[in-house]
Amino acid sequence: MSASTSSRTFAVDGWTPSSWRARTTLQQPEWPDRALLTSARAELAKLPPLVTSFEIDALRSQLAEAAAGQRFILQGGDCAETFDGCEPGSIAARLKILLQMSLVLVQGGKRRVTRIGRFAGQYAKPRSSDSETRDGLTLPAYRGDLVNGPAFDAASRTPDPRRLVRGHERAALTLNFIRSLVDGGFADLHHPEYWDLDFVKHSPLAKDYQAMVDQIGDGLRFMETLVGVNVAQVHRVDFFTSHEGLVLDYEEAQTRQVPHRAGWWDLSTHFPWIGVRTGAPDGGHVEFFRGIENPVGLKVGASTEPDALLATIARIDPHGTPGRVVLITRFGANMIAKHLPGLVDAVKRSGRPVVWICDPMHGNTETVVPQSGPGKGIPVKTRKFGHILAEVEQAFEIHRAAGTWLGGIHVELTGEDVTECTGGARGLSDEMLARAYTSAVDPRLNYEQALELAMLIARRMAR
Ligand code: PEP
Ligand code: CO
Repeated sequence: MSASTSSRTFAVDGWTPSSWRARTTLQQPEWPDRALLTSARAELAKLPPLVTSFEIDALRSQLAEAAAGQRFILQGGDCAETFDGCEPGSIAARLKILLQMSLVLVQGGKRRVTRIGRFAGQYAKPRSSDSETRDGLTLPAYRGDLVNGPAFDAASRTPDPRRLVRGHERAALTLNFIRSLVDGGFADLHHPEYWDLDFVKHSPLAKDYQAMVDQIGDGLRFMETLVGVNVAQVHRVDFFTSHEGLVLDYEEAQTRQVPHRAGWWDLSTHFPWIGVRTGAPDGGHVEFFRGIENPVGLKVGASTEPDALLATIARIDPHGTPGRVVLITRFGANMIAKHLPGLVDAVKRSGRPVVWICDPMHGNTETVVPQSGPGKGIPVKTRKFGHILAEVEQAFEIHRAAGTWLGGIHVELTGEDVTECTGGARGLSDEMLARAYTSAVDPRLNYEQALELAMLIARRMAR
């Protein structure tokens, strides 16, 4: 029996959708209005789900292929989606850049690529401090639109459970548009020109990209002539959704049993991941996610100890199911060589069939102070393209040396022409950051930087 149709379920050993409540659960909002919370949870529990168990199974088998080195995962999107940002232009632009990157990666890696968006529900953020103080006023920290608002006033910052329902609705609107675009032929490999973003023409990368697109077009036509079918009908390009499974009131309310199938499914997304701050083996998040049938991502950072990681993996994946656990590593370009080899070695010796994904964003965040320009003297959070690339390249090399397989990348990006990360082909400097810095939380690769990263990775994979 294949992994995807395994009859073993994960809801064992006293697990229930609410068993996490008996554990220490970090990063949860203090909801002041408990009655509102109860009604929001009840409403969420009866609304239609965002995804289906069949789609989740399809992703799980693709992840099993990635664990075995036969597939590459491209996971990307905003650090934090906002309710305001739920508009067609930015959703389509994110699909376009993920499609373009995946095309380039297929070309270079000669492997199938699975696209997973950090979208349709990426509304909750972990914070290093529960509160924020400005000019003597202390208010709760902004925890993402799922919980409260970013404006610094008491009304905005008070956690509001009605936002849980609003988040579900915004996610549904986003997903509805994505599904229509994909079903309507937007993602047809025969028409990569549909995915062109306006400024591709002016990009220093335009020529290289066009050459790749032409090559793929030639390959498709060759295949179709050879086998006599339209490739688009055989391999429809699809997208999966993911978000950090942070606010467990939200996840629990959307976790259900479905007719004729065993187990419990978190139907708020195909692929939830556990953040680096909430991955303790005995904590509430690991308790919740160990019982659901979805594949589960686990962020791994410089503070992750091999023994704790193995304990967490054993709780989430007691049967050793390929594709069940995805380890998303994020150390920083200058820390990965110190930490990743030991963790790879420990997991390899445990024999667990995990997928390894490199997140080259979250260990490379830094604060710079531009020396001139409109943002002169104002500290700004950024990431250097060179550091991002260096972390991915080291990840490839460390896995190669260990005999394991780097199964994908996890990036924060946007399909728009923002200025949040520095470097790349256009040499964006600290002084240019103020021009179009719109991220709600972390700095994202802009469209060109994201495409360039994919091209450089594809080149590396082709070697
Ligand atoms: C994130 O992915 O935006 C995030 C907060 O990551 P991490 O848990 O790795 O810090
Ligand atoms: Co982030």
